[in-house]
Amino acid sequence: MPLIAPSLLAADFLHLESECKMLNESQADWYHLDVMDGRFVPNISYGMSIIKQIRKATHKFFDVHLMILEPEKYAEEFKDAGANSLTIHQEACPHLHRNIQQIKSLGMNAGVAINPATPVSFLQDIIADIDLVLIMSVNPGFGGQTFIPHSIQKIREVKTLISQTQSSAKIEVDGGISLKNAADIIKAGADILVAGNSIFSSENPKETIEKMKEL
Ligand code: DX5
Ligand code: ZN
Repeated sequence: MPLIAPSLLAADFLHLESECKMLNESQADWYHLDVMDGRFVPNISYGMSIIKQIRKATHKFFDVHLMILEPEKYAEEFKDAGANSLTIHQEACPHLHRNIQQIKSLGMNAGVAINPATPVSFLQDIIADIDLVLIMSVNPGFGGQTFIPHSIQKIREVKTLISQTQSSAKIEVDGGISLKNAADIIKAGADILVAGNSIFSSENPKETIEKMKEL
């Protein structure tokens, strides 16, 4: 059974409290929180002050996806804001190993995300040190994009890499996931599904989460 991590990027920010209430009552496992800096990605979302507010509304696990340069400058602040896990981008971090050690030393889970054009082989020398691989199935920066089919192949490759290296990393997939393609993504080896628009824009978000979990 996959874990479901709704992306708050697609939530109604005027009614954040009721969106959190809905997620709390739902079978959603994690809160997926997308932080964008307008530098690594061409968009700006929200930061630690919003995450701190959301933290008051739930006890669920905070899966923070940092689409930012220089994550080492902010790791501690995200921890203080309530993050349980920080995922940073391979493409944004020339000192990836050091950054992962920092996140772990702060007591959080550590993940590495790869963009659609980044080969899985780039994870070879970090896979044993991380808790999570995040395969981007769209180009990061915006919600509501179309799933890139080649991502399925990448999920299989990460799964192979994990078993070859006896890593305990989980596989999370992010971007363009809906009830239509989720079964194929799980079948390929995904442990955690991130979904924004397909959950929050659906007629009955709780039911959509439940159906995704049952796949
Ligand atoms: C994109 C973000 C995603 C996004 C997913 O850069 O990392 O988490 O919110 O949104 P959907 O599910 O709408 O593609
Ligand atoms: Zn994300």
